[in-house]
Amino acid sequence: MADLSVELASLALRNPILSASGTFGHGLEMEHFSPPHTMGGLVSKTVTLRPRPGNTAPRIHETEAGFLNSIGLENRGIGAYLRDVLPRVADADTRIFTNIGGEEAGEFAELASMLDERDEVDALEVNLSCPNVGGGRLPFSTDPALAERVMRGVREATDKPVFAKLSPNVTRIGEIARGAEAGGADGVTAVNTLLGMAVDWRHRKPRIASVQAGYSGTGIKPVALRCAWECARAVDVPVIGCGGVGSAEDVLEFVVAGCSAVQVGTAAFSDPALPGTLAEHLDDLLEAEGVASVRELVGSLDREGRAPA
Ligand code: FUM
Repeated sequence: MADLSVELASLALRNPILSASGTFGHGLEMEHFSPPHTMGGLVSKTVTLRPRPGNTAPRIHETEAGFLNSIGLENRGIGAYLRDVLPRVADADTRIFTNIGGEEAGEFAELASMLDERDEVDALEVNLSCPNVGGGRLPFSTDPALAERVMRGVREATDKPVFAKLSPNVTRIGEIARGAEAGGADGVTAVNTLLGMAVDWRHRKPRIASVQAGYSGTGIKPVALRCAWECARAVDVPVIGCGGVGSAEDVLEFVVAGCSAVQVGTAAFSDPALPGTLAEHLDDLLEAEGVASVRELVGSLDREGRAPA
């Protein structure tokens, strides 16, 4: 058996496999497909201060390689999350990450402070990068100073490990990652969805009511991998890879590029049992390659792009 355990800042995970926010409910909904103990952690759908009904339908469209979503952060708000969801995850045999979203820096800090009191929560993922609210302007994930400001507020509100979820819709993601790190982030998640759109030309209509939407799935893996690699080169804190992951081979590509853990998202819609099988497949791959621990591979990519000697 290879050692699959990894560390994300002060947080020890049994393996590097996490669910991606917004693709796996709050986590336990999927327990019959992917039992929590098979995964390193579960990341919740974004929770906001107030309930949000989400965007107008149609808000999902399947493309040739992945899909577009414009859910608009639909959720029942932090009150319902604290009351109804957290007691149910209290005994989950895995790490619980709560993903939080806000319209301004103070809202993120307020959410962090409310969650700080709850032992069920192991870590926070701060959603700086939802493309489906505020007209897709992405203020917190396109400006390093704003990313830093939000993360500083969150950092001051909680002692739990905090991870900043970044957007690929920038030219220099490393600068945003550095801003988040300067604000006190214990790590960054790279990346959220790419801005995209789809058109029904016969009816001259967008396929998604909000026109623009977040594109995820197999098609974005090369972009996500490059973003994760840039982040890993830019910051000293751990990077969590996310984007187009559908196999244990994909997981190891992100690990070699510099990620300490990897999230599985869109692939779980077609196969909700997939996340729960990846650790076993990782073990097989590492054993076949004679690698004793997945940690040995983190960031082992040769800078020039050549295979190490
Ligand atoms: O529309 C949504 O709820 C998507 C959220 C996200 O990508 O962060």
